[in-house]
Amino acid sequence: RTRVLTGITTTGTPHLGNYAGAIRPAVAASLDPQVDSFYFLADYHALIKADDPARVARSRLEIAATWLACGLDPERVTFYRQSDIPEIPQLTWLLTCVTAKGLLNRAHAYKAAVDKNTEAGEDPDAGVTAGLYMYPVLMAADILAFNAHRVPVGRDQIQHIEMARDIGQRFNHLHGDAWRALTGKAGEPLTLPEVEIEEHVATLPGLDGRKMSKSYDNTIPLFAEPEVLKKLVMSIVTDSRAPGEPKEVEGSSLFQLYQAFADTEQTEAMRQAYADGIGWGDAKQRLFERIEATVAPMRESYRELIARPDHLENVLQAGAEKARAVAAPLLDELQRAVGLGGFG
Ligand code: TYM
Repeated sequence: RTRVLTGITTTGTPHLGNYAGAIRPAVAASLDPQVDSFYFLADYHALIKADDPARVARSRLEIAATWLACGLDPERVTFYRQSDIPEIPQLTWLLTCVTAKGLLNRAHAYKAAVDKNTEAGEDPDAGVTAGLYMYPVLMAADILAFNAHRVPVGRDQIQHIEMARDIGQRFNHLHGDAWRALTGKAGEPLTLPEVEIEEHVATLPGLDGRKMSKSYDNTIPLFAEPEVLKKLVMSIVTDSRAPGEPKEVEGSSLFQLYQAFADTEQTEAMRQAYADGIGWGDAKQRLFERIEATVAPMRESYRELIARPDHLENVLQAGAEKARAVAAPLLDELQRAVGLGGFG
């Protein structure tokens, strides 16, 4: 059976980009009877970006409620919090010890921080924590601890998945023989994951046309109230072409957003409307209606779920148990393979 795995960092309120890039494809994959899915709240990752405990706590609740509101069936999938699975930080250390420091030097997030410091004439590592530096190794452990085959994500995560493959491969190379000898199994101890990207939503744009991202403060929250949603959609940046003038779909954030929430027929109708010179106000109204049609039913259940933290807690505890039943036996084998088994 194929294992599909993905996570969301619990640093903010889930937005349309998270939904289109990760949640929607993940929930769709979970309906396939040939798939075992592992979906989780990356709350250890959240500590790297956020030092506000109340915000992290709130975000965990919101993201838990969001997954369920978007149709995830916790009976069918394994749904858990990263911080409930001690095998993940354990594996992180085993992987840390086989990861080349040079590999981590090349991680986009770390490099961006260094470049920013260098430009500002500061020490390159100023304000950079070891947590930020280690981000890709923790993420590799998330994936490899469950021997995931496929990881549905947005484009911004591709490098992380590639690093997980590199790190897994290095571990297999160094410890594969010992693992095979100990377990009598064939193959490799760690499965190298494949990234899974939905081309037309891989980078959903935000209000200002850049990638929709918590760090750019340009997001549309998935479950904003209709009035707020409408206001945000009306504020999407467009060019200055007047009604009646043909519009370009190429490079139009508005069109890209529309496409992410529309079927082929609706998308083609919008393409035609662009060519026919639809006014931006009308186009935005259509986009608002399309998003609203998608999210309205889920928003209802989100409201109910977020008001029941006890229920969410029970779901996640049950999920942690299922997740550990998979990760713990693998960790035991890996520990023994690196020489950390019992003396007997
Ligand atoms: P995070 O929390 O930033 O985002 C969660 C998911 O949403 C996708 N995404 C987008 N997709 C399309 N357009 C956008 N504008 C957009 N913004 C965000 C992200 O690509 C991601 O799939 N490191 C990860 C969380 C993580 C993880 C993992 C993912 C931790 N461990 C293991 C997969 C497997 C992150 O910070 O995603």
